Amino acid sequence: MNALLAKTDIEGLKLLRRGKVRDVYAVGQDKLLLVATDRLSAFDHILPTPVPGKGEILTRISAFWFAKTADIAPNHMISADLGEIRGELPRDVRLDGSFDGRTMLAWKARRLDVECVVRGYLAGSGWKEYQSSRTICGQKLPEGLLDASKLPTPIFTPAAKNDNGHDENICLSDFTKVVGGDEVAAEAQRLSLKLYAYAAELLSSKQLLLADTKFEFGLRGGKLIVIDELLTPDSSRVWEAGSWKPGTTPASFDKQFVRDYLERSGWDKASIPPALPQDVVDGTIRRYREFLGKVTA
Ligand SMILES: Nc1ncnc2c1ncn2[C@@H]1O[C@H](COP(=O)(O)OP(=O)(O)O)[C@@H](O)[C@H]1O
Ligand SMILES: [Mg+2]
Repeated sequence: MNALLAKTDIEGLKLLRRGKVRDVYAVGQDKLLLVATDRLSAFDHILPTPVPGKGEILTRISAFWFAKTADIAPNHMISADLGEIRGELPRDVRLDGSFDGRTMLAWKARRLDVECVVRGYLAGSGWKEYQSSRTICGQKLPEGLLDASKLPTPIFTPAAKNDNGHDENICLSDFTKVVGGDEVAAEAQRLSLKLYAYAAELLSSKQLLLADTKFEFGLRGGKLIVIDELLTPDSSRVWEAGSWKPGTTPASFDKQFVRDYLERSGWDKASIPPALPQDVVDGTIRRYREFLGKVTA
């Protein structure tokens, strides 16, 4: 695994954006170079303590799923192989070994400013909304569900993607407006549900439950493609099947471990977040690595 990389500056490429996790560079007119750093975000804040090797794990997991699901939904991946990527870049651009494994060359798309969330189980903000209204994103759910209950069928519950703030659940008609019409909305929903179904089945064969996950889509040449990342512990809530029991919080591979620490720390989620103790960093990377191992085994 690579040494720590929290921020990149690639000479000779134009930096388009630093996301919470990825540094994004332009490659020509129609491609992007995405470098997943070791930054960790929680509650919409970048934490001051990076997690060494996390960016590589995320990129390897995404690359696995992008390759597996390309015939279900087209996606942005061109290559995650550093040798191949170097060959596609201008000759004066140098990417040293610290980029290995964590870098993806991708088709640039016009991003839909929404998160396409699919939920198979009740958790997180879905559980919160259900408790107060028996709905998620305005969709009526049966009575009597508990935290972590399995939903009768997976549901599509989009959220607005707010660049400098909190992502919030939106109803399907707002979703349709944001993405620019019925046709794109229906296609994004269809692809999201298909990807969820495929991934949930693959994960269940590894004794893992896909509680929920979010997809990002963009338009390229009039067609929707999956962009950013796919089915990683940053974008998905994944539980160990053996520890799942409705009414309790199952053991998970995602950022819940870090969120639990932050909740305990007394941080107000508005000021600068606290540094993470070493055992929380170690525990996080161990979970992410275990997920990579299980998924790609
Ligand atoms: N193929 C693509 N075309 C256009 N934008 C993309 C593509 N892939 C990823 N992005 C965008 O690049 C950024 C990646 O940075 P990331 O750290 O994942 O962002 P965030 O802070 O939103 O989580 C995001 O804004 C994402 O929407
Ligand atoms: Mg992202």
